[in-house]
Amino acid sequence: MSHTVVTGGCGFIGSHLVERLVRDGHRVVVYDPAPLPPGIEGIAEHVRADILDERRVSEVVDSADTVYHLSAMVGVDRYLARPLDVIEVNVLGSRNVLRAVHATGAKVVMASTSEVYGRNPAIPWAEDADRVLGSTTADRWTYSSSKAVVEHMTYGFARQHGVRASTVRYFNVYGPRQRPAYVVSRTIHRLLTGKPALVYDGGRQTRCFTYVADAIEATVCLADNSEADGQVFNIGSDQETSIGEIARLATHLIGGTVSSVDTAHTLGERYEDIERRVPDVSKAKAVLGWRATTEVAEGLATTIEWARGARWWLALTS
Ligand SMILES: NC(=O)c1ccc[n+]([C@@H]2O[C@H](COP(=O)([O-])OP(=O)(O)OC[C@H]3O[C@@H](n4cnc5c(N)ncnc54)[C@H](O)[C@@H]3O)[C@@H](O)[C@H]2O)c1
Repeated sequence: MSHTVVTGGCGFIGSHLVERLVRDGHRVVVYDPAPLPPGIEGIAEHVRADILDERRVSEVVDSADTVYHLSAMVGVDRYLARPLDVIEVNVLGSRNVLRAVHATGAKVVMASTSEVYGRNPAIPWAEDADRVLGSTTADRWTYSSSKAVVEHMTYGFARQHGVRASTVRYFNVYGPRQRPAYVVSRTIHRLLTGKPALVYDGGRQTRCFTYVADAIEATVCLADNSEADGQVFNIGSDQETSIGEIARLATHLIGGTVSSVDTAHTLGERYEDIERRVPDVSKAKAVLGWRATTEVAEGLATTIEWARGARWWLALTS
């Protein structure tokens, strides 16, 4: 039985990862100050501590074979409201995890994001595509920049110190338990609570929405594959879907209406949207033998079915 630590294990992706690892028979320790979500409380050991507590991180990582580092400050609302916390938690927290695995020799899987590519117009993005970002005066880029620094730090620990580290760049993951602050989760939440779905700036922006079970499959493949050490992988669907289409599919399945919003009047100049986000997933296919297999319509239907029965989640605000 291997011993794994999942930082951020109470979050959306982390909680699905914890469930999967427990099901596979691993000993799992969750490192996260938040409680585990309803329905899966008590399935794993839980250390409620901050990732910025370096001593605690190194104590908890000490006997682990594998560490999945998912804790982070995530979400547009957070990087506009708390840009400094985004930088500190993401960068310094990741440094604590990397130092801890350097001391023990454990394998680490680091969660990064498609946001690192910024608004590079040359899609699809291979892993070595350029980063194209806006000004540092726009808080919107703190998340992308923090994750890029973490990536540099991870490659540095791998090359300079031989740390076994793989990085996963997730593309718009969605599914049960996601906070209703993202395109899919907010659309479903609003429609199920009797509010109109919101479509920003005409809804023509596209994303490659990735069902959480597919993302988890790739994440565990990375931990087990030594060929992935020192490498970064795009983990996303290659099905490009517009945000307007998500609203159309969701209203078809739930009912309700769609309302148009102009971001210039809501988020203001501090936010800069990205028109298209498409991964080149050939590296994940070649090295991990992985590709996303869940169609958006299927993933949406499964998420809606779950949401209808999740009272605690419907009680959140969207
Ligand atoms: N969901 C996506 O589509 C997506 C896309 C790209 C990258 N990611 C990355 O995947 C990872 C997981 O994302 P998620 O969607 O599950 O986010 P989430 O917000 O649901 O989970 C993040 C978890 O980190 C924990 N956390 C926050 N601050 C912490 C701190 N100071 N100490 C310890 N834990 C702390 C939170 O309590 C939370 O449980 C993150 O690293 C994120 O950047 C997610």
